[in-house]
Amino acid sequence: MARRKLVAGNWKMNGARDANAALVHDITFDSKRFPGIDIVICPPAVYIESVAAALSGSSVQLGGQTLCEQEKPGAFTGEIHGGMLKDVGCSHVIVGHSERRALYGESDALVAQKFITAQTCGLQPILCLGETLAERESNQTETVLARQLAAVLDAAGIQAFKSAIVAYEPVWAIGTGRTASGEQAQAAHAFIRGQLARANAKIANSTRILYGGSVKADNAESLFANADVDGGLIGGASLKAAEFLAICAAAQ
Ligand code: G3P
Repeated sequence: MARRKLVAGNWKMNGARDANAALVHDITFDSKRFPGIDIVICPPAVYIESVAAALSGSSVQLGGQTLCEQEKPGAFTGEIHGGMLKDVGCSHVIVGHSERRALYGESDALVAQKFITAQTCGLQPILCLGETLAERESNQTETVLARQLAAVLDAAGIQAFKSAIVAYEPVWAIGTGRTASGEQAQAAHAFIRGQLARANAKIANSTRILYGGSVKADNAESLFANADVDGGLIGGASLKAAEFLAICAAAQ
């Protein structure tokens, strides 16, 4: 089935008010050229409201980069509630990014709770899955993907994937310039879709699976040409308007 492609920009811990204004202006101006895809940008939380204002009237959507797993706001110093992300204009939120799993100890169980809380708060989670180089080189890729996905499926159920997006982000490709080959990406995406299909084939078929990990203007088209690659989750290249827009063009 044809799934509407999506290109999401994960700004990570980057940005500044003036630079953001220029970047968002260029993206907003040119995003009209891509009516056939969804575009989401995920700034650092402190900039979401100002980026939302700059995006107003544009079809570009906003996402958070993480959220607190607590379903209710309260005494959780420094945390950000999903309802706050929604309140300032977000429709999506990244959960389980490998940097949060590795650097901030987010377990499969915590990621699953964040996934559920995101939906409770009215946000579409972008669930990140991916293996490390050591895991790939020891043929554990499918074991890792299955484990990470099962944690969410067991907690949230397959019906939850009707309003969720999955991102396959091989850790060894993130920020390294070592992009997965089309074959590697397609194999991982097909495996993830197969795991979803074991619970419900229709939902598996309609779930968008993005590829993330050194997507650039010069490799996006070949990546997105794969049957089970439904767009990209873009890091470094999302901070450069021309390159991000070229990736959007490749998805169109
Ligand atoms: O979430 C997307 C990110 O992990 C990919 O980063 O810089 O390799 O595109 P990058």
